Amino acid sequence: MTEIKQITVVGSGVMGSQIAMVSALAGFDVYLQDINEESLKVAEDSLHGHINKRISKGKISLLEAEKAFARLKFVTSLEKAVAETDFVIEAIVEKLDVKRQLFAEIDRLAPSHAIIATNSSTIVSSKLADATNRPEKICNLHFFNPVLVMELVEVVKGPQTSDETADTAVELVKQINKTPILLKKEISGFVANRILGALIDEAIYLLENDIATVEEIDLACTKALNHPIGPFALLDLTGIDVNYYIRQVLYEETGDENQKPQKVITEKYLNGEYGRKTGKGFYSYNS
Ligand code: CAA
Repeated sequence: MTEIKQITVVGSGVMGSQIAMVSALAGFDVYLQDINEESLKVAEDSLHGHINKRISKGKISLLEAEKAFARLKFVTSLEKAVAETDFVIEAIVEKLDVKRQLFAEIDRLAPSHAIIATNSSTIVSSKLADATNRPEKICNLHFFNPVLVMELVEVVKGPQTSDETADTAVELVKQINKTPILLKKEISGFVANRILGALIDEAIYLLENDIATVEEIDLACTKALNHPIGPFALLDLTGIDVNYYIRQVLYEETGDENQKPQKVITEKYLNGEYGRKTGKGFYSYNS
């Protein structure tokens, strides 16, 4: 199995930044790369905010936090970020053509032993593997939001992924103190999001048919089913824009009209109401 010392996370959004932080906290040398300098700055500030909270709650020591931040480098250069990497985790926008271009570029720049994983739950690794010359080293490694809190990570083998790559990925998940499950075959959405998708679809159906309000549907889930938050609060947390892109990809893949982003999702997306990250989604948030 490949020994992992250095991890590179590409894309410094909510998912990428926290994946990088979790890896640094576990003792790995980490590069967090993004082409957008401003996004890196936002990521750094947000991570300091989350970690400061943990320090003040006594969950982590100041020294541990300082060591983790010393291991975490924020860079715009992809070349620098992957030059000596052992494991790349891509967490950029959910667009196939953009991801394929990035995978080809990483393949050109990274050492030949490096594994390249995508955090995507809708774009399976076989759609990216042939953009590289190392298809057996490509897999999905799917985290949940917020990554600092959620324990599960799905490792997904594509038809081209080698056993060694999957084993290394499973081992890495354990080393960053998360719980892996290994999906032996690709299926869009994987396990957790397929189940969650069914819940969200039903919540939107009930809303669009004027059965109940956003607040009431969320209350049904929190107070009747004991979910930590309702489906609309969760959409605000994970990003209505992300949901829009995911459904768009599913629609393009299947041609199934039922997979298209629903009316309410499209409206919010077009209004720039993405949820917590824009201050407004199904709920409003103070910045
Ligand atoms: N980032 C990092 N940490 C966060 C956070 C965030 N955005 N939001 C909350 N937390 C931390 C808090 O700091 C707190 O930490 P401590 O336990 O150390 O104090 C902990 O989470 C609990 O937070 P709160 O007490 O403020 O609030 P809460 O009890 O409502 O918990 C929650 C917040 C953890 C997000 C909880 O509501 C929850 O578990 N929600 C469900 C999340 C979920 O279903 N995620 C899966 C989404 S699907 C997905 O991710 C798929 C995908 O493909 C992207």
